Amino acid sequence: MSCLVFFYSPYETLWLGTTCMATAGQISVRKLMQRLMGGSRYDSNGSSTGEGLNPLVERLSDHKVTRLALSFLEANDGRHLKDIGLEDMTDDRRATYGGQSFWNFGSDSFLGLDRDPRVHAAIQDALPEWGSHNGASRAFSSPRLTDEAEAKLAQWLGVTDTFIFPSVTLTNIGVLPAIAGKGDVLVVDRESHDSVHQGARLAAAGGARLEEVITPTAKCVSDLLQRIDAKAAVMAIDGVYSMSGKSPHLVDLDATVRGHGGILYVDDAHGTGVVGPQGRGAAYQALGSLSNILMVGSLSKAFSCLGGFVTCTPDLKTILKIRSSTFIFGGPVPPPYLAAICAVCDIFMSPEYEMILKSLRERIQRVRLGLDALGLAYHCGDAAIVSVVVGDIEKTFDAGKKLFERGFYVQSATYPAVPINGGLLRIQVNANHSYDAIDGLLNALDDVTRELRISRQSKPDSVTSLT
Ligand SMILES: Cc1ncc(COP(=O)(O)O)c(C=O)c1O
Repeated sequence: MSCLVFFYSPYETLWLGTTCMATAGQISVRKLMQRLMGGSRYDSNGSSTGEGLNPLVERLSDHKVTRLALSFLEANDGRHLKDIGLEDMTDDRRATYGGQSFWNFGSDSFLGLDRDPRVHAAIQDALPEWGSHNGASRAFSSPRLTDEAEAKLAQWLGVTDTFIFPSVTLTNIGVLPAIAGKGDVLVVDRESHDSVHQGARLAAAGGARLEEVITPTAKCVSDLLQRIDAKAAVMAIDGVYSMSGKSPHLVDLDATVRGHGGILYVDDAHGTGVVGPQGRGAAYQALGSLSNILMVGSLSKAFSCLGGFVTCTPDLKTILKIRSSTFIFGGPVPPPYLAAICAVCDIFMSPEYEMILKSLRERIQRVRLGLDALGLAYHCGDAAIVSVVVGDIEKTFDAGKKLFERGFYVQSATYPAVPINGGLLRIQVNANHSYDAIDGLLNALDDVTRELRISRQSKPDSVTSLT
């Protein structure tokens, strides 16, 4: 596995990370080459075999990063548990894959609202009137549900307006090039989500000066902005890091960037609906309001709907509509999901939200206390991600596989999503996990980590987590 290091470069690493996480787990170089060996142009059903695409497959397979990723997939066939197809699922996160039934600790629907009857009803009720899709770019027309959902989000977050995109990725690649261009500097935290980097690259292609910082502190960002003669500054950073669940020091960074006349842009996908008062996110929690920053939220994680949004003002929204290519040239969130977003905002603004959040917090706490008792080191913050530190890549995959065999699915996060020897078992805690499921996971972790000799702290009772 260590050969991966030799091909390290920021762009290819991100790409390789995505490939390893998302490409078909069962593809291998050998199998690909067997397919390339030809045969008929049509299978027995008369469907095209896609033979005409073989030269493309061959060319892409020859690319060094693809080759590496394919051999990686082959070497870990059946072990890495990526790209798995769930055969069924229940309200309390029981699912089946390959005939094996398991508790799913790999869902970002943290509050369990994907199973909420009110969310289902909102989707079903909007369907007859608005249909499944508006079929036009928002630049031309939108159902009034769009304005209603944006207004509801603004009301929930205490801002004057919001702007919805079909995903957080499309928000980042639509908004970042719109707010940082020629003569501006865009500072990006290296640990930010891939889509922030993609948006930043587009901004750089449009003339912005791109500066990547590793573990940004107020001092290093201040020194950087001092050195650079730019018209304007934007700093893009995650509100909650996806792999560790931890948050950066947003208070200091906001003060620093604003001190240099710039603005902080926080991708708070994992904080949305989970962190801070009324689930307004990590940025709101740290800063007490969203009036001086741009906060990007997810509508596909704790919201259990679809999309992303950025906080703004009506004036800024008008300008972003002119400058965001993913708004102008892309499609919208389908109307039934806009209705569902309104329903979830109502839940967030109701007294009931505190009860749902309490259930989630109790479950997160149960996981953390259980890990403490086992003496296992873990990362976490205020979000619903708790990541057990394993280290070695092979052990991380083995641990994930062994947990799965015992009926528990957690994501094995390995390089390049995390540092080379920073493999993690990423537990996504959900409000609808039963205590039995959590206790079962902790027992399984106890067995598996003993079996694989994953290191533990010497005094379990006094362990502090790596938050
Ligand atoms: C911080 C962060 N930003 C963006 C995304 C991408 O979100 P989407 O699937 O809505 O494009 C994710 C997804 O995991 C994320 O964790």
